[in-house]
Amino acid sequence: MKIAVFAGDGIGPEVTEQAVRVLRALGLPGLELTEGDVGGAAYNKHGHPLPEVTLATARAADAILFGAVGDFSCDHLERHLRPEQAILGLRKELGLFANLRPARLFAGMEGFSALRPEVAGQIDLLIVRELNGDVYFGEKGIRTLPDGRRQGWDMMAYAEDEVRRIAHVGFRAAMGRKKKLCSVDKANVLETSQLWRNVMIEVAAEYPEVELSHMYVDNAAMQLVRAPGQFDVVVTGNLFGDILSDQASMCVGSIGLLASASLAEGTKGLYEPIHGSAPDIAGQDKANPLATILSAAMLLRHSFGAEAPAARIEAAVARALGDGVRGFDLGGSMGTRAIGDAVVERL
Ligand code: IPM
Ligand code: MG
Repeated sequence: MKIAVFAGDGIGPEVTEQAVRVLRALGLPGLELTEGDVGGAAYNKHGHPLPEVTLATARAADAILFGAVGDFSCDHLERHLRPEQAILGLRKELGLFANLRPARLFAGMEGFSALRPEVAGQIDLLIVRELNGDVYFGEKGIRTLPDGRRQGWDMMAYAEDEVRRIAHVGFRAAMGRKKKLCSVDKANVLETSQLWRNVMIEVAAEYPEVELSHMYVDNAAMQLVRAPGQFDVVVTGNLFGDILSDQASMCVGSIGLLASASLAEGTKGLYEPIHGSAPDIAGQDKANPLATILSAAMLLRHSFGAEAPAARIEAAVARALGDGVRGFDLGGSMGTRAIGDAVVERL
């Protein structure tokens, strides 16, 4: 089990440390961890947010556990040197095109949702976000128009094969759940979305048992807080998925609880909390490590087929939350390390 551990910036190292403790506590045979530098931390050390040596470590690994990247002190750098390029580069270089972001309310956590408890209690959804295309990876720039005005521009595009492969991930995920797939787009305005929708409908023919629906992204944002229980699997593009998954996190209580898997064809994957580097609380033992710990569970499940230890981690987290373990993000006062202790004890 070769796992690359890229802690990154801000709270990344603290939360990753706790997830590594949890992985070690499982006593898995053959566990091999290799650290690597990413983000602003890597820029400061190697002059690049995703140095070659890190990329080589990532390529050699079966799976990657990732903390977070982002550092305000790098804001002045050219875009290709900014910390975010580490995660974007890994997603692209390793072909990690399928991002799974589950959002489920843990028992007893209804009161922490930004929604009324009776609405929040229905949430059990999976956002399948395309991760290798869209406006994220199109040509972009800032140019000067003939009349002298500056114009920022970013090209949004999806080729049909890119839509098709994420569609299959969405349909397969739906087959393993309630067989409901909602494709989110903006087909009333964008041609990119029109093609996306057409391809979704084509692929649906291969999954007659799955009920496919379509929703415009603005409506989806509204429905997600109005009646989240209507969603099972949501499949969407890179930009809309980025936005909706942050929104979903507040519906289940805290962004400090949401894990994610970014998968390539095959079993290789990168696993990271959906939260960022939170520089405002970095180094203060205030970050909630549960999203990263839950990402480690997803790593075991998706890259190694190790369902039993993955379920053990999730059960330990659920029990810790049930026992009242609360970090600062949930109005409590338990530090990063203490929350890690609480999970390891329950394992
Ligand atoms: C995420 C993050 C990233 C994204 C940033 C850090 C580039 O917000 O993983 O959701 O936009 O994809
Ligand atoms: Mg995001």
